[in-house]
Amino acid sequence: MLKVLLVSYGFRCQLYSGFAAETDGVEISAVVEPNDFRRNLAKERFNIKEEMCFKSVDEAMAAGKIADCAINGTMDQFHYQTTMPLLEHGYHVLLEKPVTSDKTELLKLKETAERNHVVLMICHLLRYTPFYSNIKKLIDDGEVGEIMTIEASENVGVIHASSAFIRGKWRNSKTDGSTLLMAKCCHDLDYLCWLNNATKPAYVSSFGSRNFLAPEKAPEDAPLRCMDGCPHQETCQWSAYRDYIKSTLFSYYAFETIDKPYDEITIEERIKSLKTDNVHGVCAYKTDKDMVDNQMLIIQFANGSTASLALMLGAMKPKRDIHIVGTAGEIEGTFEDSRIVLRKFEETNYCTEQVFDLSGEDGVNFGHMGGDGRLVDDFLKMVQGKKPSPAYTSIADSVNGHLCVYAADEARENMTVVKVDSI
Ligand SMILES: NC(=O)c1ccc[n+]([C@@H]2O[C@H](COP(=O)([O-])OP(=O)(O)OC[C@H]3O[C@@H](n4cnc5c(N)ncnc54)[C@H](O)[C@@H]3O)[C@@H](O)[C@H]2O)c1
Repeated sequence: MLKVLLVSYGFRCQLYSGFAAETDGVEISAVVEPNDFRRNLAKERFNIKEEMCFKSVDEAMAAGKIADCAINGTMDQFHYQTTMPLLEHGYHVLLEKPVTSDKTELLKLKETAERNHVVLMICHLLRYTPFYSNIKKLIDDGEVGEIMTIEASENVGVIHASSAFIRGKWRNSKTDGSTLLMAKCCHDLDYLCWLNNATKPAYVSSFGSRNFLAPEKAPEDAPLRCMDGCPHQETCQWSAYRDYIKSTLFSYYAFETIDKPYDEITIEERIKSLKTDNVHGVCAYKTDKDMVDNQMLIIQFANGSTASLALMLGAMKPKRDIHIVGTAGEIEGTFEDSRIVLRKFEETNYCTEQVFDLSGEDGVNFGHMGGDGRLVDDFLKMVQGKKPSPAYTSIADSVNGHLCVYAADEARENMTVVKVDSI
């Protein structure tokens, strides 16, 4: 049996461990989780022995080599400190994105994985979705010739924006470890570099601001908490009352501080929490968010090709769009539609159009449009010495996307163009 150590048992690890446990020859045999409630959940779900349940990575490392590989789903700011000991002790690691917000740490993780001859794979799951993996195949098959430009966008819907980046645990880069671009779009920078990996990113420029969801834009009569009698409670698009009491979309994020199975949290407990110590109950304009509301960036690649990404919080229709123009054709699509259009020059009618409908692909309606399950499968294949898929995201292959994020945030803050020392 291939033994897996879970490093944390939060939302992402609960998902990934489910996929791993369903794989033949794989056993979830140990867990590190400082939260007693979550550690016990893992213990019961996978019948983990008491002596294989730990409160810290150091405790687990002191127990010897207890598993073959680890899945690390800790929060952004803990990735480096929890992954380094795993690599040094010879564990193959599947690490959640973002790797780290510090360039030195990123390169150190890469060096440590290489020196210890272990797999360090990053959860850039978009690469595994039928949508992006088929786009990559069309590019690699030469269908659009040489890429000249890629235009991409990430429109974060109102409720997702609110529960994750305005009120949620990715709202403040200083305490939560990542800027908005890093937390939300290191995926997008990763696939932009991956799709265009005939070349490397060379320069980045970027603009963005926090001028809209800011305290001075709050209605004058809005109290600090939505449910403290805010007169806009029924009509405001950011109403905590509507998002977490009337509706339940994304509300699992809002009550994660209550150590109870989500379904058992009563309405009274929700209301009390939102009215007292829960940041999800605070007026969206008045949280301690330091994230930008919108950001745009342009990448100049070494071969002269360009890519742009537009990121915005609060879209009515959440979606990721992409439009790639090459020297012999173009590709266009919206991720959430699982549909790709390929257009090519044709002598008689000028242009042919071929549509690839991927909506029937296995697992496409679950877990990032099928990406989560395929990613875990690829990691386990790598660890078992099997050939990984073309989407395989080794640490070395994930560095350039992160370097573009660092460069874009530096360019935005300093209003400059930043050179990317890509590898
Ligand atoms: N790949 C994706 O598309 C995607 C989507 C969402 C989140 N994420 C990333 O996944 C990560 C986890 O997010 P989440 O929502 O599951 O977080 P979470 O808060 O639900 O889980 C994190 C867990 O880590 C535990 N923890 C804290 N310190 C620890 C330590 N030193 N050792 C072990 N465990 C520790 C916490 O108790 C908590 O249970 C984040 O980095 C996030 O950015 C990735």
